[in-house]
Amino acid sequence: MAGRLEGRIAVVVGGSRGIGAATVKVFVKEGAKVMLADIDASMGENLASHFPGRVDFMAADISSRADMQRLAAGAIERHGRIDILAQIAGIYPSHQIEDIPEPEWDQVLDVNLKGAFLAIQACFPAMKRQRYGRIVLTGSITGPIVSQPGYAHYSASKAGLEGLARAAAVEGAVHGITVNVVEPGNVDTENARHVVGDAAMQRMGQATLLGRLALPVEVGDAVAFLASDQAAYVTGQTLVLDGGQTLPEARI
Ligand SMILES: NC(=O)c1ccc[n+]([C@@H]2O[C@H](COP(=O)([O-])OP(=O)(O)OC[C@H]3O[C@@H](n4cnc5c(N)ncnc54)[C@H](O)[C@@H]3O)[C@@H](O)[C@H]2O)c1
Repeated sequence: MAGRLEGRIAVVVGGSRGIGAATVKVFVKEGAKVMLADIDASMGENLASHFPGRVDFMAADISSRADMQRLAAGAIERHGRIDILAQIAGIYPSHQIEDIPEPEWDQVLDVNLKGAFLAIQACFPAMKRQRYGRIVLTGSITGPIVSQPGYAHYSASKAGLEGLARAAAVEGAVHGITVNVVEPGNVDTENARHVVGDAAMQRMGQATLLGRLALPVEVGDAVAFLASDQAAYVTGQTLVLDGGQTLPEARI
């Protein structure tokens, strides 16, 4: 049976590990060819080596306009088109507001929010020419829906993605481009465990209605859905994957 992304050309930014790596694997399983971009070359090249002819790696920093332009040009040179852009790259350092160093604020906004803009800006021309594009941004419930101490910059960046997605969806629609956001709750990635700690991760899983953390592949599946033609009529929307964490009206 043909996959949901059969024959599609996908650019995945931040695909070397965690949710991004899981998304790359789902995309390949669903039939896409992937241009994987990341600042982590060793993990990215290693992942690409498992899928010869299906996944190519390119070292690129999402916060660099030159890198995003080079990435889009590389995908066009290799495959002639860009059907899907998945922006997964993101960072989540933590400091209370009084202690956030200004460079850290700038870096979080540059990677998480400006990076998404730069990736869209780089891929839009090809998608407009083709009159086809599927863009999926990776937000979070942290910012648009909830927040927690230490994540002011992160919250601001992830809330900003919703506005960016709506604006890009409005501009892209007449060109056959859809733009949507996935907003995960807490996802069981190695880096999240490293940053948050195993005990806190366990408590976060227990705080959801489903009683567990999300798996990276579950986010990858949602990204693949929004990148597929099953979601052809969905644009400017957010898809929350939080195991019901933000659903209860009150903690009683
Ligand atoms: N893990 C969670 O609980 C969780 C929850 C909600 C949202 N998210 C979001 O999902 C995304 C992935 O999270 P994760 O836990 O898999 O993180 P991760 O750190 O495991 O993976 C992030 C990837 O992005 C890459 N990256 C970082 N900065 C980059 C840059 N400037 N340019 C290109 N690539 C860069 C990293 O090298 C890495 O491969 C992030 O945007 C994060 O904010 C994660």
